[in-house]
Amino acid sequence: MKIGFIGLGIMGSRMAANLQKAGHELVVYNRTKVKAEALLAAGAQWASSPAEVAGQVPVLITMLSTPEIVREVAAGADGFLDALAPGSIWVDCTTVNPSFSKEMAGLAEEKGIRFLDAPVAGTRTPAEKGELLVLVGGDADTVAECQPCFDMVGRKTIHVGANGMGSSLKMIFNYLLAQSMLAFSEAMALGQALGMEREMLFDTMLGSAVLAPFIASKRAIIESGDYDAHFPLQWMQKDVQLATVSGYEQHVAMPSGNVAKEIYMQAIQAGLGEEDFSAIFKFYNPE
Ligand SMILES: NC(=O)c1ccc[n+]([C@@H]2O[C@H](COP(=O)([O-])OP(=O)(O)OC[C@H]3O[C@@H](n4cnc5c(N)ncnc54)[C@H](OP(=O)(O)O)[C@@H]3O)[C@@H](O)[C@H]2O)c1
Repeated sequence: MKIGFIGLGIMGSRMAANLQKAGHELVVYNRTKVKAEALLAAGAQWASSPAEVAGQVPVLITMLSTPEIVREVAAGADGFLDALAPGSIWVDCTTVNPSFSKEMAGLAEEKGIRFLDAPVAGTRTPAEKGELLVLVGGDADTVAECQPCFDMVGRKTIHVGANGMGSSLKMIFNYLLAQSMLAFSEAMALGQALGMEREMLFDTMLGSAVLAPFIASKRAIIESGDYDAHFPLQWMQKDVQLATVSGYEQHVAMPSGNVAKEIYMQAIQAGLGEEDFSAIFKFYNPE
């Protein structure tokens, strides 16, 4: 199948590479062209704008940074929505808030385009191995049509429900990741201030019932001090921010989420936005 792919960052570049390895013909666009080089060298076709991608493909996947950028790339100047043929499918894998996904589904529907929100759980390494968890919202027949693509980027697909539901589930995942990492970082700062060694705290806490299991996978990053981004902290801030937007929309009070998003924002202001989100540990525990 000929697939359009827009957004070749940490996740998109790896997801696109897996689709390409599976034999799909790709038409790609990224703001920064150099990130497309490996795909182009392996036979992908470059398009000079989002609209140019859309004019050539029945299925278009986006993996961009934020809702604002998705809107701009879809419906701004040279956006792809006007160029996609009626009946074609737009799959947005970007992590966005559910109400935004529903809005995009509405925009697509006005043009006769089918829309799926399909954010993914899993970070850089699972993306590379094609082992993501794909969380999908949208029409069941459209999901079934896209299943071969999801199978190339993920180990499992969960069809959560109608448009917006994939984004809803993804939001809950990341809210828990953000809050767990934050609580751990704060507890470790307190533990060390009380006179306990970091190593002893790690040895005792990791693997114990009180700690989210994923935190064990961050130990090597924390101990090396090299917070090279698997999942950039700035996008984790965005996700907690968007969760609180959903809280507002649904009349759910999220006092700790509202504090958490500001702490992550302070970490961005301190220069940690492009580092891995586990750098929130460094924010609390400077060397
Ligand atoms: N990394 C993870 O572990 C992970 C896991 C699951 C979900 N996610 C979500 O997946 C999405 C992508 O994450 P990522 O880690 O791949 O981020 P990333 O490496 O920062 O990639 C972001 C993408 O958005 C594009 N972009 C940003 N600003 C733009 C603009 N003004 N105009 C056009 N394009 C723009 C970037 O283009 P350039 O290359 O030109 O900058 C790049 O293609 C985010 O929503 C994130 O929350 C990430």
